[in-house]
Amino acid sequence: MTSTDGRRRLPPWALVWPASLGVALLLAACGVGARGVPEESLTQGQAVYQQNCAVCHGSLAEGQPNWHIRKADGTLPPPPLNGDGHTWHHGDGTLYVYVSQGGAAFDSPSLPDYRSGMPAFGDSLSHEEIVSVINYVKSLWGGKEFRGAVKRESQAEVSKRDPFPETAP
Ligand code: HEC
Repeated sequence: MTSTDGRRRLPPWALVWPASLGVALLLAACGVGARGVPEESLTQGQAVYQQNCAVCHGSLAEGQPNWHIRKADGTLPPPPLNGDGHTWHHGDGTLYVYVSQGGAAFDSPSLPDYRSGMPAFGDSLSHEEIVSVINYVKSLWGGKEFRGAVKRESQAEVSKRDPFPETAP
């Protein structure tokens, strides 16, 4: 875009980039993306989340109402992933299996009535995308606590024994 006097005129959207960079730097300075998860990974995780998960778990990962009450077809409604449900009980490895193989991975003869409504994403998401979407979900838990314990810290402890796989299994 060049004006008649030969000077480059900036299109209005050019201003958006410095502004969003400023916000990103501010968030980084506030420690968003702390705990060793690189900021790009959380950004990627958020995009993966909005494209694949928000339709069921909600755009704020708030889940659906009555998520712990089984529906007529035997499945549960999608639970909150924002730290209000029980996602934090599971280590990274278990959450990875949940996303890559779906809830069917937890079928067991001792739970004959269990039918999962959680699809498998192992064929459509890469290893990196699965790890990033789980890290994004965990970043939503903030400092939420359960009986005095910070949920993120409890989950990090469980994950020491149940870590992410190094590569896609
Ligand atoms: C078609 C709807 C649907 C979509 C899409 C979906 N989920 Fe789920 N998800 C469920 C349901 C229903 C459950 C409840 C558990 C069950 O039925 O096995 C669940 C359970 C989970 C759990 C276990 C939660 C817990 O608290 O133990 C995780 C983690 C999860 N989903 C992550 C994701 C992620 C990440 C995505 C996107 C990549 C996603 N889900 C997409 C329906 C969905």
